[in-house]
Amino acid sequence: MQLRIPGPTPCPPRVLEAMTRQMINHRGKDFAEILQSTTGLLQRFFNTKNDVYILTASGTGGMEAAVVNTLSPGDPVLAVTTGYFGERLATIASTYGAQVTRLDFPWGQPADPHAVSKALQKDPSIKAVFMVHNETSTGLTNPLAQLCQVVKEFDKLLVVDGISSMGSLEFKVDEWGIDVAITASQKGWMAPPGLAMASFSPRAWEAHARATMPRFYWDLALAKRFLDKGQTPFTPAVSTLYAMLAALELMDEEGQQSIIDRHQRVADAVRQGVKRLGLSLLPPEEFASNTVSAVLVPQGVDAKQLQGLMAQQGVILSGGQGALEGSTFRIGHLGWVTVEDAQIVLSVLESVLPRAGSAREAS
Ligand SMILES: Cc1ncc(COP(=O)(O)O)c(C=O)c1O
Repeated sequence: MQLRIPGPTPCPPRVLEAMTRQMINHRGKDFAEILQSTTGLLQRFFNTKNDVYILTASGTGGMEAAVVNTLSPGDPVLAVTTGYFGERLATIASTYGAQVTRLDFPWGQPADPHAVSKALQKDPSIKAVFMVHNETSTGLTNPLAQLCQVVKEFDKLLVVDGISSMGSLEFKVDEWGIDVAITASQKGWMAPPGLAMASFSPRAWEAHARATMPRFYWDLALAKRFLDKGQTPFTPAVSTLYAMLAALELMDEEGQQSIIDRHQRVADAVRQGVKRLGLSLLPPEEFASNTVSAVLVPQGVDAKQLQGLMAQQGVILSGGQGALEGSTFRIGHLGWVTVEDAQIVLSVLESVLPRAGSAREAS
């Protein structure tokens, strides 16, 4: 089976084996070693010396934690959105009472650093900027280094959703000045769902000291206190943590740059193959993501039918998300994936496209 959705992603056998390990006392010495090793490896992959916390949650829990640990109700926030997940971050902030100004870009287009600069110039009261690095819904990677540079010029707190990019694409928390970076185990990390991971800078801690949004489960002050003694405040997803450590060890063996290069090669193969079939991607090619490709459904093709035919051949793809439902389908290529996997997906796509009513013959 080829599970090629943008998460959960397939897990290597060593990761699955790690999950079969018996439970241990989460207040004991063995657990402390696992938590500390996992946290240390995460810091290496985040490229940060900042604190990194592992929360029992999906990625959205990490997003919510980022909001409630840094803001007070009424705080002015700039939410840069380029798709479904940027909107979610904006929604979480406004749900907790932040005063959110949205800077929306059309779905499929990247965030423009000049526009972000203008928005920050226009409203000097903005306290924090929220953005998504890799917009999974549109298969687009925003120019994060440039965007971060703008936000830092204005000296704002910067929160980045790196859920579908971290561990797979270049992502430099310290160099780029990211105060809170969030990701989740089921994406490029090759582990099952269940853990959100977030880095928290000294500046984020300063914001935390003033932030009055309600928080209990997500309070990172508690997480910090417990991490210092090798624990989490609440019962953690022990099995997922075993898996995460095994996956990080595999990633460490492969090396960060090799992983980034492999994602580039796989994505290149997907993009070339898609073009060869006469199909187009939603975003401009220079911003096309190396972890997920959003492909426009050609005229005359039914997206659901296409996905169904692919599934019959053992290839599981995702449909379009939110406003893109029916008009795009998505191929996930993050985590445990090779060029050969991409070729299997493409050859199955080639064989089923005509049967899904493609107006265009594959050439
Ligand atoms: C960019 C991005 N942000 C947030 C999320 C939400 O994560 P979760 O579904 O783990 O809560 C996802 C999940 O697909 C994502 O890709």
